[in-house]
This record gives sequence, C-alpha cells and structure tokens, in this order.
Amino acid sequence: MSTSVGAGKRPTTVAPAVARKPRGVRAGIFGVGAAVPDRVVRNAELEARLDTSEDWIVRRTGICERRRLAAGQSLSQLGARAARSALRDAGRCAEDVDHVIVSTITADRLTPGLAPEVARLLGAHRAGAVDLNAACAGFVYALDHAAALVESGRASVVVVCGAEAMSRITDHEDRGTAVLFGDGAGAIVVAGGELELGCARFVLGADGAHGDLLYADRDERVIRMEGREVYRHAVRRMADATAEALRHERLDVEDIDLFVAHQANARILEATAAELGLPREKVFLNVERMANTSSASIPLALAQAEQDGRLRPGAIVALAAFGAGFVWGAGIVSWKERADVFA
Ligand code: ACO
Repeated sequence: MSTSVGAGKRPTTVAPAVARKPRGVRAGIFGVGAAVPDRVVRNAELEARLDTSEDWIVRRTGICERRRLAAGQSLSQLGARAARSALRDAGRCAEDVDHVIVSTITADRLTPGLAPEVARLLGAHRAGAVDLNAACAGFVYALDHAAALVESGRASVVVVCGAEAMSRITDHEDRGTAVLFGDGAGAIVVAGGELELGCARFVLGADGAHGDLLYADRDERVIRMEGREVYRHAVRRMADATAEALRHERLDVEDIDLFVAHQANARILEATAAELGLPREKVFLNVERMANTSSASIPLALAQAEQDGRLRPGAIVALAAFGAGFVWGAGIVSWKERADVFA
C-alpha cells in the first residue's frame, strides 16, 4: 500500500491512495542540524593501545572512526550548535521556540541538565527546557513528547536535541566497549502543520527486568553490557516496534523510503532490517564515521542522510531505537513534508 507522501513528492499535489482521517494539526519535522567535535579517533589508534584490531572492529561493528569531545569541552555548546543549525534550517528563530528537549545520559553536570544551557546559548529565552533520559532510545522518546506538545496545542515550536559525550562514560581500557562509542549532537525542529503524515503515532516500550544487561553504575560511571544479549533484544524490539508503527498507519514495509535507526552498530541494523524484510539500500548507516553516539545517533544520521541526498521532502522515514532499561521505540515520520510552519 502506498500513501500520498513518497520521496520527492509534495503531499498537497498527490492524491492519497488511502484517505487518512483529518486529525487537525499534526506535528512534523521542519529542520535538522548536527554538530560533532573536531577530534577523530580512528580504529588504528585503538589498535595501538588495546588488545584489538582494525579488522575485528570493522567486521563486528562496522565502525571505522568516532568523534571525541576534548577534556573540558562542554556538551551544551555542541548541543546548541546542532540546535541553532536546525532552527536555521527550519527558517525559525530562537524567539519562536516554546520548548527545548535535550535527550542525554552524559550531561556536563549531574544537575542542572543540559537543556537550560542549550536554550540560553540558543537565545530561546521564552522556552521551557528539560532533559530526558531514555538512554539510546532517548531521541525517539523526546520526539514523541515534542509531537504531543505540538498536537495538544501546548507548544508551537519545539527543538529536540540529542547530545552525548559517550567518551565520558566509556571504560577506555575495556576492549569490549571502548571501540563502540562516539560523541556528537543532532537536533530537529518540530512544529505543527496541515500534514498528511507528519510524526505519526510512536510505539514506545520499556522492560526494567533487563536493567542489568546494559548499565552504568553511579559509583563506577562507565557502561557495562552483555553484548550478545543486548544485540538479541535490540533486534527483536526494534523490528517489532517498527512493524507495529507501520501497522498503525496502515503502511507496508515497501512504503518506507529510508530506515534511520539508532546507530548502535552495523550488524544490529542489518539484522533488524532483515527481520522487517527491508532491503539493505533502504537502511541508512553512518556508524562507520560516528560510532554509537547513543541518543544523538538518529538526528546525526538524519542530518547526514539529507546531506547525502537520501532524504527529500515527503519521504517516509521509519525511526527505531533501543537502549538501556531496556527501553525502545519506533515511529513513522514524513520528512519535512511542508516547508512552511502552519500552526
Ligand atoms: N577486539 C577484539 N576482540 C574483542 C573485542 C575487541 N574490541 N571485544 C571483544 N572481543 C572478543 C571477546 O573477548 C571474545 O573473545 P573470546 O571468544 O576469546 O572470549 C570475542 O571477541 C567475542 O566476544 P563477544 O562479545 O561475544 O563478541 P560479539 O560477536 O558478540 O560482538 C559486540 C561484540 C559487537 C559488542 C556485539 O555483541 C554487539 O553488537 N552487541 C550489541 C551491543 C551494542 O552495540 N551495544 C552498544 C550499546 S547498546 C545500544 O546502543 C543498543
């Protein structure tokens, strides 16, 4: 089944194959931005220091390099750069912003969170600002919350930012995890419009029974995980949640133009896509350059996908993420369905 919103098409000019019920203002994505630290850590650097090899890292994870924030560099500045670029892309200014939601597990300080400082740096003086922690699934949760604020009429413009300095909670001597993570920030602007699909309903889930399979303790402060178990659960949860999100919108896998999932590692994404029956060419991967940036990975990937010409207005994008908790989520969104903010 196809809908009226496909890659490169303007939804207002294409008759829908299946008429959707009008539901008033829908939340949609209007802008995207990214910011990464300058420092690049290549596999060779890790190979020189740890009992690992370039070949092992690439074969098991697909990762070639990652970015790292310098000691003393603030993550809020990186988040603000990403948010500023997303606002510019959306053609909005800081005064328009009602809410700044920052997803992070690696904030500059225990408290305050990152969001108030990101909002200040942005100049979003009118905005409420809050951090959200749903580990690697945080961006999907934050996007769902932003869409709810917009569609309920409680906000008009929401900046959703994923900002992570995973190097702060990585055991750099543990070869099992040291090779996996990177730092970076990505952001999108969510606003309302008369949209065909916008940010469709998200499927979110949590199962605290598996909290010991992937965690960072308050004392030790570094990530520990049972890699194989995490892999198994991540594939099943992301595939099931994406399938449910599709069913809810009466869409088929064939309707997806691009699958942009949490960039944990290439094998997880390929296995999830295979479960869904998605061809490889519809799976976006930038994990080779960015590694696993936790909740920053999806907005970073969205920014890269657009820059690479793989996301055009109206494209149907499936988002999926999984992280510590366990928590997971998936949703179907149309990419920048309209250029003008309607509501
Ligand atoms: N270099 C060389 N050897 C390594 C390395 C390394 N960097 N890391 C582990 N090994 C060794 C192990 O010690 C083990 O050796 P042994 O057989 O002598 O005991 C062997 O490789 C296999 O180890 P496994 O952990 O079983 O390797 P696996 O094939 O499962 O791959 C990986 C590990 C890539 C972490 C995989 O489990 C995975 O993808 N897990 C998903 C978890 C993940 O990506 N987590 C990120 C955070 S969670 C999230 O974002 C969803």
